[in-house]
Amino acid sequence: MTTNFLSFVSFVSLALLIFPTALLAAPTLLIQGFNWESSNKQEGWYNSLLNSIPDLASAGITHVWLPPPSQSVSSQGYMPGRLYDLNASKYGNQAELKTLVKAFRDKGIKCVADIVINHRCAEKQDSRGIWCIFEGGTSDDRLDWGPSFICKDDTQYSDGTGNPDTGGDFEPAPDIDHLNPRVQRELSDWMNWLKSEIGFDGWRFDFVKGYAPSITKNYMQNTSPDFAVGEYWNSLSYGQDGKPNYNQDQHRNDLVQWVQAAGGAVTAFDFTTKGILQAAVQGELWRMKDSNGKPPGMIGVLPQNAVTFIDNHDTGSTQKIWPFPSDKVMQGYAYILTHPGIPSVFYDHFFDWGLKDQIARLTAIRTRNSIGATSKVQIMASDPDLYVAMVDDKIIVKIGPKLDLGNLIPPNFHVSTSGNDYAVWEK
Ligand SMILES: *[C@@H]1O[C@H](CO)[C@@H](O)[C@H](O)[C@H]1NC(C)=O
Repeated sequence: MTTNFLSFVSFVSLALLIFPTALLAAPTLLIQGFNWESSNKQEGWYNSLLNSIPDLASAGITHVWLPPPSQSVSSQGYMPGRLYDLNASKYGNQAELKTLVKAFRDKGIKCVADIVINHRCAEKQDSRGIWCIFEGGTSDDRLDWGPSFICKDDTQYSDGTGNPDTGGDFEPAPDIDHLNPRVQRELSDWMNWLKSEIGFDGWRFDFVKGYAPSITKNYMQNTSPDFAVGEYWNSLSYGQDGKPNYNQDQHRNDLVQWVQAAGGAVTAFDFTTKGILQAAVQGELWRMKDSNGKPPGMIGVLPQNAVTFIDNHDTGSTQKIWPFPSDKVMQGYAYILTHPGIPSVFYDHFFDWGLKDQIARLTAIRTRNSIGATSKVQIMASDPDLYVAMVDDKIIVKIGPKLDLGNLIPPNFHVSTSGNDYAVWEK
């Protein structure tokens, strides 16, 4: 007994030395914990989200992406100004945010802050009448900037003394000059303050096409987040029929190149998988196998850095810029929650659409079979009305309306969950 126990203990300590993260950390499972209307919540979004924590913890969620926390000209937070001022947010004040973050951490869920730094709204006009005098939201001069901190080619706002922009322009607000060493230092300090003072563990970088990937790399190195994901949102390529082309390699390669140029530790939202999947579930499931027999999205080439999702506050919610077909959302979850990559569940689907139990059954299958970011996919069928794949030789997922599967499913697999046009088998 004692000997067995001791050898078990030494086995565990040895294993912990060799595979520390594999044993300690559950595979990352993200939820976007807000939508486009959350800032309108009467009792405050931070307060109301406290009630969701038990359901998220039991669904195996490891990270929650929270909205941009700072004072902002627009209520949703994407036009931030006084970055240190977390009391003027429409989601709640600093104390309420800290309470929420602590409550998540107490349940083992880490919080990811939405980092909006490409652009920034000024507090005052200068003598030219231009909005370019920034205020940090502290009593000292941290983040108190002027027009020289704006990219010189953002001519509407700049005084021409900053560096040229290293990425795309965001028209409604001044684009910040991230090549300025004081900008880099003070934004890194602010992010480190979000970690130490509020309790955040990771970042979701907004609109990373607005500045060079080397700049994301800098902020990653200066702040060492536990997890980070960038929003690099490009359009797919479309044919003359208005549908996405079958081959989206260019699209996913752009994501991979961004991740690599940003240092390789950051992940990227897998917009390729979303776009192909939402076309495929409309009777074109042949799209789900690329010309090499692999998944056609970013998860087919760099799954460990790909964050898969169905919709977010822009593509879905009330904005609906590029929504997944609403009657086929569960087929989408059956795919991303059984496949490699890091899945991100959307708040609305889980709570507002009544899909909590169906989604939680899929996350439970993922967790108990240790399906993770780099799990192996073997595609068994990719017809217009039927997609079947085995993942890690442990589970099989079927998507699509076709009912007769012939003898595709080996007899040692049994159905463990199913719904409208999807099913998952386990051994
Ligand atoms: C926000 O409120 C907290 C108290 O909850 C206070 O410590 C902090 O200084 C306030 N921040 C600003 C920018 O007013």
